[in-house]
Amino acid sequence: MNISVTETGEAGLGAVVTGLDLESPASETAHTLRRAFRTSPVLCIRGGKAAPESFLRIACIFGTLQRELMGVLRHPAFTEISVIERRQGVSTATGKAATFGGHWHTDDSYMAVPCAATLLYGEVVPPRGGDTSFANMHAAYDALPGGTKERIAGLSAIHTYQSRRNVSPVVERTEEEKARTPPVTHPIVRTHPETGRKALYLNPNRIDRVCGMPLTQGDALLDELIAHATQPAFVHVHAWQPDDIVIWDNRCTMHKASPHEGGHPRRLLRILIEGTVPV
Ligand code: SIN
Repeated sequence: MNISVTETGEAGLGAVVTGLDLESPASETAHTLRRAFRTSPVLCIRGGKAAPESFLRIACIFGTLQRELMGVLRHPAFTEISVIERRQGVSTATGKAATFGGHWHTDDSYMAVPCAATLLYGEVVPPRGGDTSFANMHAAYDALPGGTKERIAGLSAIHTYQSRRNVSPVVERTEEEKARTPPVTHPIVRTHPETGRKALYLNPNRIDRVCGMPLTQGDALLDELIAHATQPAFVHVHAWQPDDIVIWDNRCTMHKASPHEGGHPRRLLRILIEGTVPV
């Protein structure tokens, strides 16, 4: 089988890889996948059913695996895999029912060293709905007016697990997990360590405040940047097919899950790839 990469071009994200043998990938496959991922920070690998071992093998191509902090989410047999299947919970900030991961975010920004990338495997996907949307934060940064780029250059924000601005439900942490995740500070504009490109680094779920700014002014700035970054022109929507493996780059994208109707199950397996301190 010949591996092929098709770029959809939607918002500069969303290439699809086909023709991959998940059980015994050819030696040049790793190189092709890494190159495709560098060009398209959201990559869908359509290679048919993947056992957890095959999913882990594919993930290792992209870097060092990072174990999920929250023990409750971990797969019982494969500790580097976590299981995403809860649909609705109650938002801590609004007290209203909401979809888990249903608001724009980037994974693990509440950590000092957030993961570089995330892979999801669509083990069970609903026939309709339950899409995952992605926002291209390089494109969003590039399109900012010059005055805004100047205004935000050098600014940082405090990210925390349960922030005052978060509207998504969050999984309860144990005392030990809380102790391991104190609030952290990250730049609002970060430079991608591999490409050198700048990206907005926002996480509406986890950013608590802009450092050194009164709350109302910081909130207004965050609202403005988030509204800008999530315009349709920067957004790619992934409609899941069974057994899709999707990998995205958390250093230059945000994502969110959409709700789906009816009682259809949706069960995704997730693997995180280690990152570096954002600069
Ligand atoms: C996530 O936010 O990590 C999961 C996204 C999804 O369920 O589509």
